[in-house]
Amino acid sequence: MINNLIKVLPKTELHLHIEGSLEPELMMELATKNGISLPYETVDEVRQAYQFDNLQSFLDLYYLGAASLVTEDDFYQLMWRYLVRCKEQNIVHCEVMFDPQTHTQRGIEFEVFMEGFVRAIDQAKSEWGQSCYLIMSFLRHLSEQHALETLAAAQPYLSQITAVGLDSSELGNPPEKFARVFAAAKRAGLKTTAHAGEEGPPDYIWQALDILEVDRIDHGVRSIEDSILMQRLAEDKITLTVCPLSNIKLCVFDDMQQHTIMDMLRQGARVMVNSDDPSYFGGYLNENYLQLHETFDLSVDDLSLLVKNSFHGSFLPDSEIQHWLSQVDQVIDNH
Ligand code: ADE
Ligand code: ZN
Repeated sequence: MINNLIKVLPKTELHLHIEGSLEPELMMELATKNGISLPYETVDEVRQAYQFDNLQSFLDLYYLGAASLVTEDDFYQLMWRYLVRCKEQNIVHCEVMFDPQTHTQRGIEFEVFMEGFVRAIDQAKSEWGQSCYLIMSFLRHLSEQHALETLAAAQPYLSQITAVGLDSSELGNPPEKFARVFAAAKRAGLKTTAHAGEEGPPDYIWQALDILEVDRIDHGVRSIEDSILMQRLAEDKITLTVCPLSNIKLCVFDDMQQHTIMDMLRQGARVMVNSDDPSYFGGYLNENYLQLHETFDLSVDDLSLLVKNSFHGSFLPDSEIQHWLSQVDQVIDNH
């Protein structure tokens, strides 16, 4: 019964890297078309390579795969396929991260990926009313200067971008490194989020809150190590975009039983569920909820709280959040 409720509830996804939704089939097809050489002969070989020890071992493969994306239509195909998944999984609103530097560093112009993304988003909106915001994420292993240049290059597209984010190799690249670019993004009217406390210590979460002044935190699972931080997150209603399957695949926790998402929820943190890089981590959003249910035997109230948190944490206008919260109640009542 909960399994079915998971599927039919309207949901949001707030932590999804579009490059991480690149399925091996599309990766191989585009690499062949574009004459990009990959160290794999078959789709099965690509899948077999998806064994990770930590975040970096995943990122190495993720950047390799992203190199198969070259033309406007490649980026359109990538975004379109994810938005079709949203329709199938009742993800009524999504906030999708993209990494411009992953592409500009290979000589792909901003307009190439932006036009592909926006074409798919506009089509999904007109075909079935899909709501989708874009989050431009800076690569933290690169310099702040490079991030500032990326923000400047994004200027003509800012009306199509809702927020900035911070991702890639966390350890050794603390949020404070990006203080000036986040301040500039805020001045430009953008919302902000940052990966913090995925592999990095609670101090990185404090920095994201107090130095970058982010609107929400991506992952943040290591906040449970710091009780004062947990209080702060609860008091300020900071959303944590938690990604259960990702955390298992990247060895943040040994297995789902060890995952602390339900402890964090019980301690009052506004946690919600996401897929992060679904093609690499073995499941889209519903599979993340289903695995949580299999492990923690979620009650209807647990599920309702997680799904409502997903709307509260979104950058949607208040009126739309209220609309979806009442839809969630209605679907639960009718179930
Ligand atoms: N880029 C794509 N997925 C990521 C993750 N889980 N953490 C940091 N950077 C990422
Ligand atoms: Zn992520």
